[in-house]
Amino acid sequence: MRGLPERIQLKTPDQITLMREAGLVVARALAAMRDAAAPGVSTADLDGVARGVLSEAGATPSFLGYHGYPAVICASVNDRVVHGIPSTGEKLREGDLVSIDFGAIVEGWHGDAAISVAIGEVAPDVAALSAACEKSMWDGLAVARSGARLTDISHAVETSIRGSGTYGIVAGYGGHGIGSEMHMAPHILNYGRPGKGPRLTPGMALAIEPMVTLGSRATEELDDGWTVVTTDGSWAAHWEHTVAILEDGPWVLTAEDGGRAELAARGIELSAAAA
Ligand code: MF3
Ligand code: CO
Repeated sequence: MRGLPERIQLKTPDQITLMREAGLVVARALAAMRDAAAPGVSTADLDGVARGVLSEAGATPSFLGYHGYPAVICASVNDRVVHGIPSTGEKLREGDLVSIDFGAIVEGWHGDAAISVAIGEVAPDVAALSAACEKSMWDGLAVARSGARLTDISHAVETSIRGSGTYGIVAGYGGHGIGSEMHMAPHILNYGRPGKGPRLTPGMALAIEPMVTLGSRATEELDDGWTVVTTDGSWAAHWEHTVAILEDGPWVLTAEDGGRAELAARGIELSAAAA
């Protein structure tokens, strides 16, 4: 929708704290699914692992029922890019790359993150694809700070991916604002010129989520109305974190360590709120 830009929700420190709780549930669930993912395990089994973490934490799934979505995770294997629906018939095999996306709600506040997981030994180009995608996410997170402009993130993600090799940067899809809903303004493309869009200010929270392929950037949606696949059949990776922008620095709410290690490697200190 064009016209007046949508307002970006600003969170209070207490609301960010609740988003951190949701983010830690997401981190825990993704770690449990990463550990469970192995040959013979179905994507529905992974969904079950996430449900277990949710009920233990007393948290609510973000995805279940979202526009009718039927599961608590998205599991997107190989040429599936995002929004793959878990299924008991879809068993992981040695050499697969599965992207697992998961969101949780605590007291009305959302966390959203995704990882790509190699099943056993994957082809070297597939391992490099996932590493390039993850790196570009961190390079994007590193510029998501107060005072930057929105497309500085897009540009940093694109520059990072292009610096890693010849990859397709999925067109049209991207990150988003997050808070009292999973998907909020603004939309964040994973490519573009820097210096445009709204200025980032304290209290914003953003989900940054590059989607990268070994082939072209074109995708299509399957007849299930959800699954996004590459048009050329090339394999794809997807990584995502939710970050809060605070006056004194970022806080990666869905990372166990708040993003401390990866951001320190890029010369950035976390907000004192993350201590
Ligand atoms: N979490 C995804 C994203 O990163 C969206 C999931 S769509 C749903 O934006 F329908 F599965 F919820
Ligand atoms: Co998201």
